[in-house]
Formats: sequence, structure tokens, C-alpha cells
Amino acid sequence: MLLEMKNIDKAFNGVPVLKKVQLEVERGEVHALLGENGAGKSTLMNVLTGVYPRDGGTVTFDGQQVEHATIKKTEEMGIAFVHQELNLFNDMTVWENIFLGKEIVSRLGRCNKKEMIRKASELFSQLDVKIDPTEKVENLKTSEKQLLEISKALFFKAKLLILDEPTTALNNDEIDHLFQIIRNLKKNGTSFIFISHKMPEIFRISDRYTVFRNGEYIASGSIREITPEEITKLLVGNADSFRDIYEERETGETILKLRDYSGPGFQHINLDIKRGQIVGLTGLQGAGSSELMQCIFGITRGTGGYIEMEGKKIPPSSTHKTMKAGIAMLASNRKENSVIPDMSLLENMYLAEHTLSAKQFPIHRKKEQEKYEKYRQMLNIKAQDSSDSILSLSGGNQQKVFLARWLNTNADVLLLDNPTQGIDVGAKAEIYKLILQLAKEGKTILINTLEIPEIQKIADYCAVFYEGRIVKILQHEEITEQTVMLYSTNAAEA
Ligand SMILES: Nc1ncnc2c1ncn2[C@@H]1O[C@H](COP(=O)(O)OP(=O)(O)OP(=O)(O)O)[C@@H](O)[C@H]1O
Ligand SMILES: [Mg+2]
Repeated sequence: MLLEMKNIDKAFNGVPVLKKVQLEVERGEVHALLGENGAGKSTLMNVLTGVYPRDGGTVTFDGQQVEHATIKKTEEMGIAFVHQELNLFNDMTVWENIFLGKEIVSRLGRCNKKEMIRKASELFSQLDVKIDPTEKVENLKTSEKQLLEISKALFFKAKLLILDEPTTALNNDEIDHLFQIIRNLKKNGTSFIFISHKMPEIFRISDRYTVFRNGEYIASGSIREITPEEITKLLVGNADSFRDIYEERETGETILKLRDYSGPGFQHINLDIKRGQIVGLTGLQGAGSSELMQCIFGITRGTGGYIEMEGKKIPPSSTHKTMKAGIAMLASNRKENSVIPDMSLLENMYLAEHTLSAKQFPIHRKKEQEKYEKYRQMLNIKAQDSSDSILSLSGGNQQKVFLARWLNTNADVLLLDNPTQGIDVGAKAEIYKLILQLAKEGKTILINTLEIPEIQKIADYCAVFYEGRIVKILQHEEITEQTVMLYSTNAAEA
């Protein structure tokens, strides 16, 4: 056994979040750590790596008792941690980020920049990662940043690598690539703790699993001896919220009209979207669906054609005017686009509404509190107090707050880009119900996602993108994983 954690206790401000939990990881295995949002997965990893001290329990790693873990000490022991949220310095270069605190120095004590750049290139070419070591991190795409984080951890030959939701910003090819790297390292005896909410990937890469619920240890075993349905049951306690929830609805007149609309990353889009419709957009990363959303919302500027909301043209590249026209958008990357770290979770939730209704002061604290309470219950947001820092919430629970932020704007059209990233299966089902309910009430929803089951559950139809264009519209009953893949890889054409 490489790692044994026993009877681990941890509380924040007197509230226990880990209650006598255990985790055992063998040499050369991928161990999936599973649990709903707020179950305590990241906290246990923070305890293991000395980010937080534990309140009780024992840890043995590689035959050694770990008494007072610190980040430095556990790194030296061979534990590398790729955090759920990116931890890079944007204003530094790629190589500086890799070697931060571990600089290679020449005999004269000077930093050996050339050597570090060379080593970084060598690592990237070994891993087949196409990143320039001298590039500033802020110029990287989100997926490149995630790959950099992982490469960085791999650089210092760890015995145990913790990957906390490593694939949220990766496309399918990049995920395949990452899994290949994991398999290769496994052969050399490296162990992995793999945290993810995506069932297919858990089953593809893991050897064993451990399930937590509400800070308690529930079960562990071999992945080969369990099914996704059984895991889901262990995760949520019951599974009756997973029945088919889609129902056909009456839809209204056209609310959003796109004509020959072109912009950065997409061309010649024609769509007529009706009030009350739920439209799925999908395609491989970079195929144009996310880019289209950003342009509709005014983050980028259209280059041709036009877009109308209720018969009126929307002025280009003004998110404020777009919001005023009644369009709201949940952006795709939480850490980079949504979190305001020094605001409370209530303030984070109300940000959009306050921006929109700037003139309607004073703010009604009591009303806000009531509404927050409504969303907290509906989305099962695990938080102690609405005045707590947003950063004290687990990743998935932060995402729920941002979803609430946009659901709360009274906008007629909601653009949701990858809305359920990092959200557990139980809460996902709640969100789907909520989206269907909103549509019934006349809201129009565009949802961009790479997760086909998501579109399958709620979309009236789905537009599949390939190289910047819509290559296929699939009606609700036509949406299957296979057909979507067929069109998004352009295999239908070939
Ligand atoms: N620094 C902190 N201060 C206060 N509470 C915290 C802090 N960090 C975590 N918590 C609380 O501990 C609980 C467990 O959080 P944790 O981040 O471990 O969940 P998780 O299992 O990783 O969930 P997710 O899948 O959403 O990432 C949550 O209720 C969270 O709000
Ligand atoms: Mg987490």
C-alpha cells in the first residue's frame, strides 16, 4: 500500500466536513475519489498535502508516518497535487511557473534560465504537449493552462499524483491524451488519485474507487465489480431523480434571430429561436459553438450578418447593452470568468442583477436573502452562511452560485456555456429540471456543452458545429451520442 489515511477528521469553524474518513491507495493504481459537491474530496486532498492541518487521524505514505504535513514536505515525499482550480501565475512565463521555488541554479548560484527552458521543452515533447515554454501564461488557452498544471506536477517525478477534476477544460482528444500519459506512468508504478464527476471517464481510467457522502466514508472497491448506476446510488443515496424528464412544450414566436451571422471562430449562422425553446449547441472544442455564444453576448465582435432580439438588432460588442436587451450568459470557465474572490457568495450571486438594475437602489437585503435561500434549497448549495467568502465553497457549489447569478437576472434569453462543469450527478438532475421549468415559464435557453447526455435530456433541438459552421440540426428524438459524434467530427461527410 502506498497511502493509508485513517480516521481523518477536519472541521472548518467548528463545522465538521470530514468525519473519520479513510482512503487507501495502492502502488500503480488509479484510484477514483468520488462524492457529491461538498462531500469533502478536495478537503481530504488538502489535508493530505498539508494545505490544511488535520484535526485527527493518521496518515502513512510510502511506509512512513506523516505527522505534521506541510506542502513542501509532502512534495519532497513524492506527492504532487494538481488543484481543481488553476494555480498558475498569469504574468509569468510557462517555464517560470514550472520551476517556481525549484529553480535550477548554476555553480555560481545564478538561475540557469537556458537549462530550465530546455528541460521544459523536453518535458513537453515527451508528453506531446504543444506549449512554448517562453510564452506568458496569460496568453495560453484554458485547456493549455490545465495541461501545463498537469505537466508541472509530472516534472518532479511524483509517486502519487492527485488530479482534482483535471479534465473540466479539456476536449475529448486532450482527455485521451491525458489518459495515455496516466497509463504510461502507471506502468512505472506511479499512483493516481483521480477526482471527477464524469462517470464515463471514471470508468475508463480508474482501477478502484472510494465514495464519500457528506464528509463520511461510504464504500470502496474495484471498478470492474460495479456499474455506473450502482456508483450513482452510492453517491446520492437514492437515484429516483434520474428518470426521463423531458416533455414537449408549447413555444412562442421567434425571439432570437441570427442571419448569416459571422464572427471570430464561426461563420454564416442562421437560427430562429423561439420563446420557451431549449437549444443545445455542441461540437468539438473550437468548432464555434462557444465562440458564437461569446459573440452573441458581446464579448467579441461580429464580423458579418446580424442578430435580432424581438425584432430589434443587438448592437455589437457591448455586454451591457446585450444584458439590457434581456440576454444573460454564464461563462464557461469559472475561475477565470466568474469568481470575484473577495466578495461573499451572496454578493457573487447578485452581481449580474446589480449591474443590470443599477438605478434601483437601495438594495433590498431581506429580499435578496429570501431569493438566495430559494436557490440554495433548489440547487442544494452547501454553504454555511451567505456572507461567507465564495472561496470557502467547494468547486461544484461555487458553480451553483454562478448559475443562480444568471438565473436570477430575469433575462428572457439565457446563454449557458458549459453550465454543469464540476457539478455532481444529483445536482445536475436538479438543474435540468430547473431549466425545463424556466422554459415552461417562457424563458429561452441556449446551452453549449460537450456532454451529449445533457443535451439529450433537455434540448428541443441541437445544432452541431464543425469548423465554425452548423453542419446539422438534430431534433430532440434524434439526439444520440453517436449521431452527434458523427456530425461533430464531420464523419458524416466522409
Ligand atoms: N476554506 C474553507 N473554509 C470553510 N469551509 C470550507 C473551506 N474549504 C472547504 N470548505 C467546506 O468543506 C466542505 C467540503 O468541501 P470540498 O471542497 O472538500 O468538497 P468537494 O468534495 O471537493 O466538492 P466539489 O465536487 O464541489 O469540488 C464544503 O461544505 C465546503 O464549503
Ligand atoms: Mg472539490
